[in-house]
Amino acid sequence: MNENIYLPKLAKIIKIKQEVSGSRPIKTFRTQFLESSDFSHRSGQCAMLSVLGKGEAMISISSSPLEKDYLQFSILKSGRVTTALHEMEEGDIIGIRGPYGNHFPIEKWKGKNILFIGGGIGLAPIWSVLQTARAKKADYGKLALIYGARTSNDWVFKEELQELKNEMDIHLSIDCEEEGCNEFVGFVPQNVADKKPSPKNSISITCGPPIMIKFVIEALQELGFKDEQIYTTVENKMKCGIGKCGRCNIGKHYVCKDGPVYSWAELKTLPQEY
Ligand SMILES: Cc1cc2nc3c(=O)[nH]c(=O)nc-3n(C[C@H](O)[C@H](O)[C@H](O)COP(=O)(O)OP(=O)(O)OC[C@H]3O[C@@H](n4cnc5c(N)ncnc54)[C@H](O)[C@@H]3O)c2cc1C
Ligand code: FES
Repeated sequence: MNENIYLPKLAKIIKIKQEVSGSRPIKTFRTQFLESSDFSHRSGQCAMLSVLGKGEAMISISSSPLEKDYLQFSILKSGRVTTALHEMEEGDIIGIRGPYGNHFPIEKWKGKNILFIGGGIGLAPIWSVLQTARAKKADYGKLALIYGARTSNDWVFKEELQELKNEMDIHLSIDCEEEGCNEFVGFVPQNVADKKPSPKNSISITCGPPIMIKFVIEALQELGFKDEQIYTTVENKMKCGIGKCGRCNIGKHYVCKDGPVYSWAELKTLPQEY
Protein backbone atom coordinates (compact mmCIF):
# COMPACT_ATOMS: atom_id res chain seq x y z
CA MET A 1 0.00 0.00 0.00
CA ASN A 2 1.31 3.53 -0.83
CA GLU A 3 2.27 5.74 2.08
CA ASN A 4 -0.24 8.52 2.84
CA ILE A 5 1.54 11.71 1.74
CA TYR A 6 -0.39 13.79 4.28
CA LEU A 7 0.59 11.60 7.23
CA PRO A 8 2.94 13.47 9.58
CA LYS A 9 5.83 11.81 11.37
CA LEU A 10 5.75 12.09 15.14
CA ALA A 11 8.42 14.18 16.83
CA LYS A 12 9.19 15.07 20.42
CA ILE A 13 9.81 18.67 21.50
CA ILE A 14 13.19 18.40 23.21
CA LYS A 15 13.76 22.10 23.95
CA ILE A 16 11.66 25.25 24.05
CA LYS A 17 13.15 28.74 24.29
CA GLN A 18 11.10 31.87 24.83
CA GLU A 19 12.69 34.28 22.34
CA VAL A 20 10.21 37.16 22.63
CA SER A 21 7.62 37.84 25.31
CA GLY A 22 4.70 40.29 25.33
CA SER A 23 1.78 40.59 22.95
CA ARG A 24 3.56 38.99 19.96
CA PRO A 25 5.49 36.15 21.60
CA ILE A 26 7.96 33.99 19.71
CA LYS A 27 9.30 30.62 20.87
CA THR A 28 11.97 28.40 19.36
CA PHE A 29 11.27 24.67 19.41
CA ARG A 30 13.86 21.93 18.92
CA THR A 31 12.38 18.59 17.90
CA GLN A 32 13.53 15.02 17.33
CA PHE A 33 11.63 12.34 15.41
CA LEU A 34 10.42 9.44 17.57
CA GLU A 35 11.53 6.92 14.94
CA SER A 36 14.50 7.05 12.63
CA SER A 37 13.59 9.22 9.66
CA ASP A 38 14.92 10.01 6.20
CA PHE A 39 13.82 13.66 6.64
CA SER A 40 16.56 15.75 5.09
CA HIS A 41 16.18 19.45 4.36
CA ARG A 42 18.01 22.33 2.65
CA SER A 43 18.20 25.90 3.97
CA GLY A 44 15.03 27.78 3.03
CA GLN A 45 12.71 24.78 3.12
CA CYS A 46 9.67 24.50 5.42
CA ALA A 47 7.71 21.81 7.18
CA MET A 48 4.04 21.41 8.04
CA LEU A 49 3.74 21.18 11.82
CA SER A 50 0.61 19.66 13.34
CA VAL A 51 -0.98 19.67 16.75
CA LEU A 52 -3.57 16.96 17.33
CA GLY A 53 -7.11 18.37 17.27
CA LYS A 54 -5.92 21.85 16.24
CA GLY A 55 -4.57 21.58 12.70
CA GLU A 56 -1.41 22.31 10.73
CA ALA A 57 0.78 25.35 10.04
CA MET A 58 3.64 25.77 7.58
CA ILE A 59 6.82 26.86 9.35
CA SER A 60 10.37 27.51 8.08
CA ILE A 61 13.06 25.18 9.35
CA SER A 62 15.40 27.54 11.20
CA SER A 63 18.17 25.01 11.90
CA SER A 64 20.93 24.34 9.40
CA PRO A 65 20.89 21.04 7.48
CA LEU A 66 24.36 20.54 8.97
CA GLU A 67 22.70 20.15 12.39
CA LYS A 68 21.82 16.46 12.50
CA ASP A 69 20.61 16.15 16.12
CA TYR A 70 17.40 18.16 15.89
CA LEU A 71 15.08 20.21 13.67
CA GLN A 72 14.43 23.74 14.88
CA PHE A 73 11.44 26.03 14.32
CA SER A 74 10.95 29.60 15.57
CA ILE A 75 7.28 30.41 15.83
CA LEU A 76 5.26 33.58 16.34
CA LYS A 77 2.01 32.95 18.22
CA SER A 78 -0.61 34.15 15.74
CA GLY A 79 -3.60 31.81 15.37
CA ARG A 80 -4.99 28.39 16.24
CA VAL A 81 -2.04 26.08 15.62
CA THR A 82 0.74 28.42 16.72
CA THR A 83 -1.16 29.18 19.95
CA ALA A 84 -1.47 25.44 20.62
CA LEU A 85 2.28 25.05 19.93
CA HIS A 86 3.06 27.88 22.36
CA GLU A 87 1.05 26.04 25.04
CA MET A 88 3.09 22.85 24.62
CA GLU A 89 5.92 21.77 26.88
CA GLU A 90 9.23 19.96 26.45
CA GLY A 91 8.49 16.24 26.02
CA ASP A 92 5.20 16.85 24.16
CA ILE A 93 4.66 15.28 20.75
CA ILE A 94 3.85 17.08 17.50
CA GLY A 95 3.48 15.96 13.87
CA ILE A 96 5.91 17.04 11.14
CA ARG A 97 5.58 16.48 7.40
CA GLY A 98 7.93 17.74 4.75
CA PRO A 99 10.41 19.14 3.99
CA TYR A 100 8.64 21.29 1.41
CA GLY A 101 9.57 23.88 -1.17
CA ASN A 102 12.79 24.93 -2.80
CA HIS A 103 15.88 26.27 -1.05
CA PHE A 104 18.45 29.05 -1.15
CA PRO A 105 20.96 28.13 -3.91
CA ILE A 106 23.88 28.64 -1.51
CA GLU A 107 26.16 26.26 -3.45
CA LYS A 108 26.00 28.68 -6.41
CA TRP A 109 27.12 31.56 -4.18
CA LYS A 110 30.57 30.21 -3.34
CA GLY A 111 33.15 33.01 -3.32
CA LYS A 112 30.49 35.71 -2.92
CA ASN A 113 29.69 38.04 -0.02
CA ILE A 114 26.29 37.29 1.53
CA LEU A 115 24.25 40.04 3.14
CA PHE A 116 21.34 38.79 5.27
CA ILE A 117 18.53 41.30 5.94
CA GLY A 118 15.71 40.38 8.30
CA GLY A 119 12.81 41.88 10.19
CA GLY A 120 11.09 40.34 13.23
CA ILE A 121 10.27 36.63 12.82
CA GLY A 122 11.75 36.93 9.29
CA LEU A 123 15.10 36.02 10.81
CA ALA A 124 13.82 32.40 11.15
CA PRO A 125 14.16 31.38 7.47
CA ILE A 126 17.41 33.36 7.24
CA TRP A 127 18.87 31.65 10.32
CA SER A 128 19.25 28.26 8.63
CA VAL A 129 21.15 29.61 5.62
CA LEU A 130 23.18 31.99 7.80
CA GLN A 131 24.32 29.09 10.00
CA THR A 132 25.18 26.99 6.94
CA ALA A 133 27.24 29.81 5.38
CA ARG A 134 28.90 30.48 8.74
CA ALA A 135 29.88 26.81 9.16
CA LYS A 136 31.44 26.87 5.68
CA LYS A 137 32.77 30.41 5.81
CA ALA A 138 35.97 29.55 3.92
CA ASP A 139 33.67 29.02 0.89
CA TYR A 140 32.21 32.52 1.05
CA GLY A 141 33.35 36.14 1.14
CA LYS A 142 32.15 38.55 3.80
CA LEU A 143 29.01 37.60 5.74
CA ALA A 144 26.93 40.40 7.29
CA LEU A 145 23.49 40.75 8.86
CA ILE A 146 21.16 43.74 9.07
CA TYR A 147 18.28 42.87 11.39
CA GLY A 148 15.57 44.87 13.10
CA ALA A 149 12.41 44.61 15.12
CA ARG A 150 10.04 47.01 16.82
CA THR A 151 11.92 46.91 20.14
CA SER A 152 15.02 45.12 21.43
CA ASN A 153 12.68 42.68 23.21
CA ASP A 154 11.31 41.69 19.79
CA TRP A 155 14.67 40.53 18.38
CA VAL A 156 14.86 36.74 18.08
CA PHE A 157 18.12 34.83 18.85
CA LYS A 158 19.32 37.71 21.07
CA GLU A 159 22.23 35.88 22.77
CA GLU A 160 23.32 34.24 19.53
CA LEU A 161 23.36 37.65 17.77
CA GLN A 162 25.62 39.12 20.44
CA GLU A 163 28.03 36.16 20.04
CA LEU A 164 27.94 36.46 16.25
CA LYS A 165 29.17 40.06 16.56
CA ASN A 166 32.62 38.54 17.21
CA GLU A 167 32.77 36.95 13.78
CA MET A 168 30.65 39.00 11.37
CA ASP A 169 29.15 42.48 10.92
CA ILE A 170 25.80 42.58 12.73
CA HIS A 171 23.76 45.78 12.39
CA LEU A 172 20.70 45.71 14.65
CA SER A 173 17.86 48.22 14.73
CA ILE A 174 14.77 49.18 16.69
CA ASP A 175 11.86 51.27 15.42
CA CYS A 176 11.88 53.91 18.20
CA GLU A 177 14.45 55.12 20.72
CA GLU A 178 14.83 52.97 23.81
CA GLU A 179 16.74 53.71 26.99
CA GLY A 180 19.93 51.66 27.24
CA CYS A 181 19.86 50.50 23.61
CA ASN A 182 22.58 51.96 21.39
CA GLU A 183 21.58 50.28 18.14
CA PHE A 184 20.31 52.06 15.02
CA VAL A 185 16.90 53.71 15.48
CA GLY A 186 14.66 53.42 12.42
CA PHE A 187 13.19 50.84 10.07
CA VAL A 188 15.26 48.07 8.50
CA PRO A 189 15.33 49.67 4.99
CA GLN A 190 16.68 52.89 6.58
CA ASN A 191 19.44 50.87 8.26
CA VAL A 192 20.29 49.33 4.87
CA ALA A 193 20.52 52.83 3.31
CA ASP A 194 22.62 53.98 6.29
CA LYS A 195 25.12 51.06 6.18
CA LYS A 196 25.43 51.21 2.37
CA PRO A 197 26.49 47.57 1.75
CA SER A 198 28.37 47.16 -1.51
CA PRO A 199 26.69 45.17 -4.29
CA LYS A 200 30.10 44.09 -5.64
CA ASN A 201 30.27 40.27 -5.80
CA SER A 202 27.38 40.12 -3.31
CA ILE A 203 24.09 38.33 -2.79
CA SER A 204 21.42 39.69 -0.51
CA ILE A 205 18.69 37.63 1.20
CA THR A 206 15.82 39.52 2.77
CA CYS A 207 12.92 38.06 4.79
CA GLY A 208 10.32 39.79 6.93
CA PRO A 209 6.98 41.58 6.61
CA PRO A 210 6.04 42.27 2.94
CA ILE A 211 6.18 46.05 3.46
CA MET A 212 9.73 45.75 4.82
CA ILE A 213 10.80 43.54 1.92
CA LYS A 214 9.40 46.06 -0.60
CA PHE A 215 11.41 48.96 0.82
CA VAL A 216 14.54 46.85 1.47
CA ILE A 217 14.54 45.87 -2.21
CA GLU A 218 14.20 49.53 -3.20
CA ALA A 219 17.10 50.44 -0.88
CA LEU A 220 19.25 47.64 -2.34
CA GLN A 221 18.45 48.75 -5.88
CA GLU A 222 19.45 52.32 -4.97
CA LEU A 223 22.81 50.90 -3.87
CA GLY A 224 23.25 49.15 -7.22
CA PHE A 225 22.13 45.58 -6.41
CA LYS A 226 20.74 43.90 -9.53
CA ASP A 227 17.49 41.87 -9.45
CA GLU A 228 19.50 38.62 -9.74
CA GLN A 229 21.49 39.50 -6.60
CA ILE A 230 18.39 39.86 -4.38
CA TYR A 231 16.62 36.82 -2.85
CA THR A 232 13.52 36.69 -0.67
CA THR A 233 10.81 34.28 0.49
CA VAL A 234 7.07 34.40 -0.20
CA GLU A 235 4.82 33.24 2.63
CA ASN A 236 1.43 32.79 0.98
CA LYS A 237 -1.20 30.89 3.00
CA MET A 238 -0.69 27.15 2.53
CA LYS A 239 -2.79 24.06 3.15
CA CYS A 240 -1.47 20.91 1.47
CA GLY A 241 2.15 22.04 1.00
CA ILE A 242 2.58 19.74 -2.00
CA GLY A 243 1.01 21.51 -4.98
CA LYS A 244 -2.41 19.82 -4.79
CA CYS A 245 -4.93 22.23 -3.23
CA GLY A 246 -4.25 25.52 -5.04
CA ARG A 247 -4.25 27.52 -1.80
CA CYS A 248 -0.82 29.12 -2.27
CA ASN A 249 -0.63 29.76 -5.98
CA ILE A 250 0.48 32.93 -7.78
CA GLY A 251 -0.99 32.45 -11.25
CA LYS A 252 0.09 28.96 -12.34
CA HIS A 253 2.91 28.95 -9.84
CA TYR A 254 2.67 26.94 -6.60
CA VAL A 255 4.65 28.71 -3.88
CA CYS A 256 4.69 25.53 -1.73
CA LYS A 257 6.54 23.62 -4.49
CA ASP A 258 8.22 26.24 -6.70
CA GLY A 259 8.96 28.64 -3.77
CA PRO A 260 9.13 29.93 -1.12
CA VAL A 261 12.61 31.14 -2.18
CA TYR A 262 12.74 33.48 -5.18
CA SER A 263 15.21 35.88 -6.65
CA TRP A 264 13.71 39.31 -7.26
CA ALA A 265 14.37 38.70 -10.97
CA GLU A 266 12.04 35.64 -10.84
CA LEU A 267 9.42 37.21 -8.59
CA LYS A 268 9.05 40.22 -10.85
CA THR A 269 7.86 38.00 -13.69
CA LEU A 270 4.97 36.51 -11.63
CA PRO A 271 1.49 38.10 -11.38
CA GLN A 272 1.51 40.70 -8.56
CA GLU A 273 -0.87 38.69 -6.32
CA TYR A 274 1.44 38.05 -3.39
C1 LIG B 1 6.52 29.21 3.65
C2 LIG B 1 6.06 29.71 4.99
C3 LIG B 1 6.96 29.78 6.04
C4 LIG B 1 6.55 30.25 7.28
N1 LIG B 1 7.45 30.27 8.31
C5 LIG B 1 7.06 30.69 9.52
C6 LIG B 1 7.98 30.68 10.63
O1 LIG B 1 9.13 30.28 10.51
N2 LIG B 1 7.52 31.11 11.83
C7 LIG B 1 6.23 31.56 12.00
O2 LIG B 1 5.88 31.95 13.12
N3 LIG B 1 5.34 31.58 10.98
C8 LIG B 1 5.72 31.15 9.76
N4 LIG B 1 4.82 31.15 8.73
C9 LIG B 1 3.47 31.70 8.95
C10 LIG B 1 2.52 30.66 9.51
O3 LIG B 1 2.43 29.55 8.66
C11 LIG B 1 1.14 31.31 9.64
O4 LIG B 1 1.18 32.36 10.57
C12 LIG B 1 0.06 30.31 10.03
O5 LIG B 1 -1.18 30.79 9.57
C13 LIG B 1 -0.04 30.11 11.51
O6 LIG B 1 -1.07 29.15 11.75
P1 LIG B 1 -2.13 29.36 12.89
O7 LIG B 1 -3.10 28.22 12.79
O8 LIG B 1 -1.46 29.56 14.18
O9 LIG B 1 -2.76 30.72 12.50
P2 LIG B 1 -4.15 30.97 11.75
O10 LIG B 1 -5.25 30.44 12.58
O11 LIG B 1 -4.00 30.49 10.35
O12 LIG B 1 -4.14 32.54 11.81
C14 LIG B 1 -3.26 33.29 11.02
C15 LIG B 1 -3.58 34.78 11.17
O13 LIG B 1 -4.96 34.99 11.17
C16 LIG B 1 -5.30 35.88 12.18
N5 LIG B 1 -6.20 35.25 13.18
C17 LIG B 1 -6.35 33.96 13.44
N6 LIG B 1 -7.26 33.77 14.40
C18 LIG B 1 -7.69 35.00 14.74
C19 LIG B 1 -8.65 35.46 15.66
N7 LIG B 1 -9.34 34.63 16.43
N8 LIG B 1 -8.86 36.79 15.75
C20 LIG B 1 -8.18 37.64 14.99
N9 LIG B 1 -7.25 37.26 14.09
C21 LIG B 1 -7.03 35.94 13.97
C22 LIG B 1 -4.08 36.29 12.88
O14 LIG B 1 -3.75 37.61 12.47
C23 LIG B 1 -3.06 35.35 12.46
O15 LIG B 1 -1.83 36.01 12.21
C24 LIG B 1 5.21 30.68 7.47
C25 LIG B 1 4.30 30.62 6.41
C26 LIG B 1 4.73 30.13 5.19
C27 LIG B 1 3.74 30.03 4.08
S1 FES C 1 -0.47 24.72 -0.35
FE1 FES C 1 -1.70 23.45 -1.60
S2 FES C 1 -0.99 23.90 -3.57
FE2 FES C 1 0.39 24.98 -2.28
